[in-house]
Amino acid sequence: MNTLNVALIGAGRMARTHANVLGHVGYVSIQTVCDAAAENAAALAEFFGAHATTSLDEVLHDDGITAVIITTPTATHADLISKVAHSGKHIFVEKPVAHTLEAADHAVQAVEAAGVQCQVGFQRRYDPSYLEAKRKIERGELGTLEGFRGLSRDAFLPPVEFLKTSGGLMVDMGIHDLDSARYFVGEVEEVYCIGAVHAEPELRDYGLFDSAVATLRFANGALGTIESGLRTAYGYEVRAEILGDGGRLHLERDSRYHLRQYGKVGGFYERPADFEAYFHEAYAAEIRTFANNVHQGKPVTPNAADARESLRLALATQHSLETGTIVKVSTFGEVHP
Ligand SMILES: NC(=O)c1ccc[n+]([C@@H]2O[C@H](COP(=O)([O-])OP(=O)(O)OC[C@H]3O[C@@H](n4cnc5c(N)ncnc54)[C@H](O)[C@@H]3O)[C@@H](O)[C@H]2O)c1
Repeated sequence: MNTLNVALIGAGRMARTHANVLGHVGYVSIQTVCDAAAENAAALAEFFGAHATTSLDEVLHDDGITAVIITTPTATHADLISKVAHSGKHIFVEKPVAHTLEAADHAVQAVEAAGVQCQVGFQRRYDPSYLEAKRKIERGELGTLEGFRGLSRDAFLPPVEFLKTSGGLMVDMGIHDLDSARYFVGEVEEVYCIGAVHAEPELRDYGLFDSAVATLRFANGALGTIESGLRTAYGYEVRAEILGDGGRLHLERDSRYHLRQYGKVGGFYERPADFEAYFHEAYAAEIRTFANNVHQGKPVTPNAADARESLRLALATQHSLETGTIVKVSTFGEVHP
C-alpha cells in the first residue's frame, strides 16, 4: 500500500487528538508539523519524528505531501483551505469551516476549483450511536420526523480571551447540535434564540452569552430545540433526541466506563470529563475515514459545501441570539452579509 504523506497545520489540542490516531494508521506518515508558534510545532513533530516548521509555504510547495490537517483557530480556516486547495492537496479542517459565510464561500470555491477533497470536523457524524440513529431514520423506523432536541454543556468555562474570538456560543459550540439537526432531520427554515449569562459576568461586557436556547422550524415541518451551556457542576454533557410519528431515538453517553459503584449514599459512576473523552471513538473514526477515503480516491463527508450550510445555520442562530429576532435561515447570508 502506498504511503499517505500528511502535514499538520496547527499543533495545538485538536492536532494532538488527530495525530495520535493517524500515527497508528499503518499507511499514514506524518511528515511535517507547521505552527505559527515554533515551540508548538517542534513539540508535536518530535513525538512523531516529523519535520517542524513555521513556514506555510514549505508545506504548500512540498509535492510529497498528499493531505493536510488544519487545526488552527477558526478565523484562519478559510484562507488556509484556499491556499492548501490551490497547492492540490486534500484537506481535513476542524469545524467551523470558516468564521463568516463570505469566507466559507471562498473556501468552497477554492476546493471545488482545485478538485481536492475537504472534510470538515463534525465528529458526531462518526459516533457509532449517531451512525446507527441515522440508519434507523433512513430505514423509516421513526416514521415521519416531527422533532429534534440537541443539548451540549461544557464542564468548564473556557478563558474569556478565547470566547472573545470564538465567533460566539452558537458558532463555536451550538454548531455541533445544529449540524446534527441538519444531519438527522434536514434543513432549518427559521430559528429564534435567547441567551443568558450565568457563569461569568464579564461576558456581558463583550456581548457574549454562556447559556442559550434556540427553537427551530425545519423545512419539512418538524420543530426542534437546541440548548448550549459553557459550564456545569457535574462535567461534560451531550444529548440528542429525534422524534417521529413512529417512535423516538435518544442519544446520550452518561457514563465513561461500564462500571458503576453503589453504596450507602447512593450510586457513583465516572462521567466523561470533556469532549475528547465523550467523543473519543468519533474523533478516531472521522480522521481514519478521512485518511482512508483520500488514500482510495473516494469523496469525504461532511464536505466543505455541506459544512457551509451548518455554518449558515449557526450564524443565523447567533444573529437571533444577539438581536432577539426570528431569523429566516435559507436567505440569511444574503439578507445579513
Ligand atoms: N471538533 C471539535 O469538537 C473541536 C473541539 C475543539 C476545537 N475545535 C476546533 O479546532 C480548532 C483549533 O482548536 P484547538 O483547541 O486545537 O486550538 P489550540 O489553540 O489548542 O491550537 C491552535 C494552534 O494553531 C496555531 N496557530 C494559530 N494561527 C496559526 C496559523 N495562522 N498558522 C499556523 N498555526 C497557527 C497556534 O499556535 C496553536 O498551536 C478551532 O477551529 C476549534 O473550533 C473543534
